[in-house]
Amino acid sequence: MINQKRQIIFVDDDVYVLKGYQRALEPYINDWDVYFCTTGPEALTIMGRQPIDAIITDMRMPGMSGIDLLEQVIQHYPSIIRMIMSGSVEEPSAYRAASLAHQLMAKPCDIQTIFSAVEDTCHLRDALSDKKLVKIITGLKSLPSVPTLYVRLLKEFEREQPTLAKVGEIISMDIAMTAKILQLVNSAFFSIPYKVSNLNQALSILGLNTIKSLVLSVGVFSEYQNRSFSAFSIDELWQHSIFVGNLSRAIAVSANLSRAEQDEAQMAGILHDVGKLIQTDIPGFYRLLSMNTKIPEIQMEYHYLGTSHAEIGAYMLSLWGLPSTVIKAVAFHHKPIAETAFKMDAVFCVYIANHFYYDEKPNNKNTLTLPPLDMQLLEQVKVTHLLEDWRYMAKRIYAGEKPD
Ligand SMILES: [Fe+2]
Ligand SMILES: [Fe+2]
Repeated sequence: MINQKRQIIFVDDDVYVLKGYQRALEPYINDWDVYFCTTGPEALTIMGRQPIDAIITDMRMPGMSGIDLLEQVIQHYPSIIRMIMSGSVEEPSAYRAASLAHQLMAKPCDIQTIFSAVEDTCHLRDALSDKKLVKIITGLKSLPSVPTLYVRLLKEFEREQPTLAKVGEIISMDIAMTAKILQLVNSAFFSIPYKVSNLNQALSILGLNTIKSLVLSVGVFSEYQNRSFSAFSIDELWQHSIFVGNLSRAIAVSANLSRAEQDEAQMAGILHDVGKLIQTDIPGFYRLLSMNTKIPEIQMEYHYLGTSHAEIGAYMLSLWGLPSTVIKAVAFHHKPIAETAFKMDAVFCVYIANHFYYDEKPNNKNTLTLPPLDMQLLEQVKVTHLLEDWRYMAKRIYAGEKPD
């Protein structure tokens, strides 16, 4: 039988810490082969010898620090999942770590948390068959932001007294910055006993100073550089994502979902097409799309990448430790799975909202690709009688009215 065990490396200069991990990992020996290293170079030697799934490193180490080590990992082994342990987020290097590591963990961190984080991500990664694609997504440090918003955020921090409300307003309009803030807040570092999907709550947990340091640190947030892809417009994606986020929340409210589910629906709506942003990093992909305008985009994605922006986005958000409901809604925003559709939830809010956008904005290339709403599925979650109300809400939001 093929050895299916995951290959994991732990790095810490303190041998007692490593011994502690070793003891705590005993219940998992059937799932993981673990290598313990006291230095970065030792870990790099192992990575050079065999495929590794994930690395979990301490941040402060003499000689090669955890940050230097992760720089090397991104450069030479971009497919490896990267986690870093830090004692304090106040350390300036913690912000650097936030752009290099997929997840930041507080020291000490319990093994169950690390185990689940690595396993969940490996499952989604295994679903992506194209190894080159895995390399690109896992190797990403940040996603590009809408330039005008990025500049507005920098300007806000130049003011004498920037406010959290203003900063929040700007970040909430940007897919990449929103995802990054949620990544940080949901990392084990903040030890919050639940996953956060509400951006305002995330921002107040981080506080203005942390956000400022993140914005000003190189590589955490980055401005979208126009690479003149005629098949991709960051402004169009932005407009679409904000609409889907707002309508998803309005649908969740109208369907009497809980507050937490309303937050998840909005967040998933904003992030549902984040995979399209990631695709801007795939060399030549959007150029290819612009040369084949007759073939629907999603068909091109499956043909050339073996997957679509839905699975790509879900994998990246899982790497970043976002709430599982949000990840599920992103993964299935084109079509929820019938077998798991028991009740109305964030997945359906995003599915319906995404659909209604294209009803309002015909003549879009994506319209061709979208099959009609699956009425049997909507019947299954008992919402067909509400569809007309939601269609009306979509029209109002599209016309620029604020949702109730
Ligand atoms: Fe989509
Ligand atoms: Fe969409």
